[in-house]
Amino acid sequence: MTVRTPSRVILSMEASDGAGVKLRRSIGSPTLRNLDPFLMLDAFGTDNPDDYIAGFPPHPHRGFETVTYMLAGNMQHRDSVGNEGNLVAGSVQWMTAGRGIIHSEMPQQREGRMSGFQLWINLPAADKMCAPAYQDLPPEAMPEVVTQAGAKVKIVAGTFDGVRGPVAPKATDPTMLDVSVPADVEVRLPVRANDTAFFYVFEGAVAAGGASPVSERHLAVLGEGDTIVLRGGPEGGRALLLVGRPLREPIVQYGPFVMNTNAEIHEAIRDYQQGRFGT
Ligand code: CO
Repeated sequence: MTVRTPSRVILSMEASDGAGVKLRRSIGSPTLRNLDPFLMLDAFGTDNPDDYIAGFPPHPHRGFETVTYMLAGNMQHRDSVGNEGNLVAGSVQWMTAGRGIIHSEMPQQREGRMSGFQLWINLPAADKMCAPAYQDLPPEAMPEVVTQAGAKVKIVAGTFDGVRGPVAPKATDPTMLDVSVPADVEVRLPVRANDTAFFYVFEGAVAAGGASPVSERHLAVLGEGDTIVLRGGPEGGRALLLVGRPLREPIVQYGPFVMNTNAEIHEAIRDYQQGRFGT
């Protein structure tokens, strides 16, 4: 058994996206361009409506998957293939953009807290032009395991302690867990030794594999090993844990389009401009 330890810890950086939504970016920032198969991780969290009220008006995606996980607040999703979803606290929206979709995520509140995550996961070359798909998962769709020691693990994708999350099978075989660990309590997860793994701490502090605790707003990339052990820091902590199979294919990104070659990016821009997305 090899327990994974952080190979790199980075502080997320302030950024804005959509129509000026303030957020903190870790993956997809200049310090960590991508982390195959993960392309971007944004954490948004604010009590100030000015930071989110303009939302994410209609915009395109091609070639990957977008995952929105809401912790607080309410947004409405609409897209060009006719899906509509109500994003409430604890819900997840897993969208496979495939060959192209145009969507919007707009706040359904004028005050109060809005917080959550947006994660982008790449698709293999063979699936980049698949038909768009969409899973709208209400809070009750995600099982939660409470361990004997008092850790809480909400399972979005993959398996923890024999309990499987509701996300459909993917080539990247992602595991996505929301892990709350009290001080010095451990959570243990067997993984494939060569899969990419990271955790993003969003409350308190969380340590991995006996290393020193990683504090809020930091992302820790985990080195290789077949076991992940997360332990709560001195006051406990909460982290989003992601594991996925790397694709090891060329990544060419132009904003919301992520393909394998420049020619495919030009094709994406042309198709979008000519209205061939999401029909
Ligand atoms: Co989007």
